[in-house]
Amino acid sequence: MPSRNITPAPPSSAASDWKVPLSQLSFTDDEERALVDTLRSGWWTYGPVSRRLEAQFAEYLGVRHALAVSSGTAALHLACAALGATAGDEIVTPSLTFVAAANVILHSGAEPRFADVVSLERPLLSAESIERALTARTRGICVMHYGGYPCEMDEIMDLARRRGLWVIEDAAHAPGGSWGGIRCGAWGDVGCFSFFGNKNLTCAEGGMVVTQREDLADRLRSLRSHGMTSLTWDRYRGHQFSYDVTVPGFNYRMDDLRAAILGAQLRSLDRLNRLRRERVGWYRDLLGGDSRWILPFEGGDEQSACHLFVVILDEEISRNQVMSRMMQRGIQTSIHYPPIHQFTFFRKVLSQSSDLKVTEEIGRRLLTLPLFPDLSREDVKVVCSALRESVRN
Ligand SMILES: Cc1ncc(COP(=O)(O)O)c(C=O)c1O
Repeated sequence: MPSRNITPAPPSSAASDWKVPLSQLSFTDDEERALVDTLRSGWWTYGPVSRRLEAQFAEYLGVRHALAVSSGTAALHLACAALGATAGDEIVTPSLTFVAAANVILHSGAEPRFADVVSLERPLLSAESIERALTARTRGICVMHYGGYPCEMDEIMDLARRRGLWVIEDAAHAPGGSWGGIRCGAWGDVGCFSFFGNKNLTCAEGGMVVTQREDLADRLRSLRSHGMTSLTWDRYRGHQFSYDVTVPGFNYRMDDLRAAILGAQLRSLDRLNRLRRERVGWYRDLLGGDSRWILPFEGGDEQSACHLFVVILDEEISRNQVMSRMMQRGIQTSIHYPPIHQFTFFRKVLSQSSDLKVTEEIGRRLLTLPLFPDLSREDVKVVCSALRESVRN
């Protein structure tokens, strides 16, 4: 049966006040059917649907192992734990990202060491910027494919192998993105995905941790479920009667209800990413060649999952004023991201005093515009003319 698009109007709560929200869910009755089938199956926690999703995700990504977890943060925490990050270690990571990776690095006992991004046009870490941040204590690297745009993973993996470091890819923005024909998340020792409600792929809250390495897959699987040697699902099927605990782990499991939604979302991912890419093209056509802003990642959309569309405003422009003027026109904007090293907590605990000039400049000047698969051409025009009017003094 062909999928009918049943993406509803936004709820009549706060979100509906926006004429153009920053992001909006996209789904068809495929998600609805999958969810109802699982509800009726009588098994809601981690079980057969989660296992199917893992196989589907592993195949999509071209990796040997994919483990469904409760969030992107859980995926990152498991990655740090499985790779053995511990007190005294440093992990090189961007400051221009969501705080999840830095938080879980600290929870593992290690310390984040922030590397600067390359430029305003390319707000990503590179092998060179990572190399500048390495110290004798560096054990690993955690890169992030900002906005869905891939880091230069061949060079970063070369550097890591030369220096004996492991690599985590925070691919929360990048399901479907790729570098050199290999999917984001499949390059590093471990790849981590988030399925939070504003992501390209979502089941409200959820995540995935992927790896090619057998040893890491075993450790990740065990740590995901309290270090237990069998799961409730295995015991229900009569495969095991009891369990042992071999390591102190967590409960970071996905459940089958959300796995059902995600399986349907994954079937739509390439189509939804194409729609996102098309909208990014509309923005580039309408906003390109204007000296009042920079549009990063020019020429890079084909390899990107196109999760975010951002502009870097001219230094003379007041971003707060632009954001409130856009808000008055019913257009939601955002900032991805306030740099992590400038947050109160991180200012207090970090020993680092390194130079993060580009990150800080982007942190001051960056503005995120609405982007989602159902965004109409008309709304893109509305956003662009609102931006033009809002930057005037
Ligand atoms: C880059 C990045 N990493 C990690 C996360 C954490 O994911 P989650 O919210 O699923 O824990 C997010 C999402 O919010 C993110 O944007």
